[in-house]
Amino acid sequence: MPGDLPIDPQKPLPRHVAIIMDGNGRWAQQHGYAARLQGHRAGVESVKAVLRACQELRIRYLTLFAFSTENWKRPKDEVDGLMRLLRDFLVENMGELVEKGVRLRAIGHLQDLPDPTRHALEEAIERSRQNMALDLILALSYGARQEIVDAARRIAEDVQRGLLRPSEITEQTIQARLYAPDVPDPDLLIRTSGELRVSNFLLWQISYAELYITPVLWPDFREPHFYEAVRAFQGRQRRFGNVGPA
Ligand code: FPP
Repeated sequence: MPGDLPIDPQKPLPRHVAIIMDGNGRWAQQHGYAARLQGHRAGVESVKAVLRACQELRIRYLTLFAFSTENWKRPKDEVDGLMRLLRDFLVENMGELVEKGVRLRAIGHLQDLPDPTRHALEEAIERSRQNMALDLILALSYGARQEIVDAARRIAEDVQRGLLRPSEITEQTIQARLYAPDVPDPDLLIRTSGELRVSNFLLWQISYAELYITPVLWPDFREPHFYEAVRAFQGRQRRFGNVGPA
């Protein structure tokens, strides 16, 4: 890690960073664009910047909230544009990302995605399956309550088939039925554009995440902002419900 980064080499880094990329619409408006899509387009550059920063710091997992189950309610033009943007991002960047050791994954109701986006996603997931430097997890048509509902259904099915007794259900039983059960919980949750909400994102997994909210709009978010968030994380005392050091 280069010495000029504002990171404390003595303190642990987050293993998993999750980001609510917010403020694209406001950015477009502030820059005089009629279409909100211009903000999403500019936001792709921030995605690339954060990927570079994660690789620099050797952060192992990055989850990005790219499209929520609620986002389907947006105007058709915006939804179609976002889906095209996602496909173009995958088609244009996967070669380089695969070379850099990025493993692409996705969580959410992927069956809801239009075919061209879903195919590009499936291909990128397949191409990068063996990679181990950084897991880039895209939350797409994702809702955390839906994820918990899906887990509950699978548990009920196992109980019904006689594979599991209700008295045997533990936190691990639920964890094992989430969309990406092997991924450790996020240590740091970043939200851009200043809203103080978690917006149905990884509700189970963020139980002990450190929250970092910045007023910076997502399309303006770059490496220095990411390093600042990590530096803030390093300044936190994580107690996981225990008492702190005397
Ligand atoms: C929220 O901003 C952002 C989104 C709904 C979409 C995020 C998507 C991208 C950045 C596109 C590219 C993603 C990848 C992974 C390539 P908003 O529109 O709600 O902003 P507002 O609150 O200012 O209206």
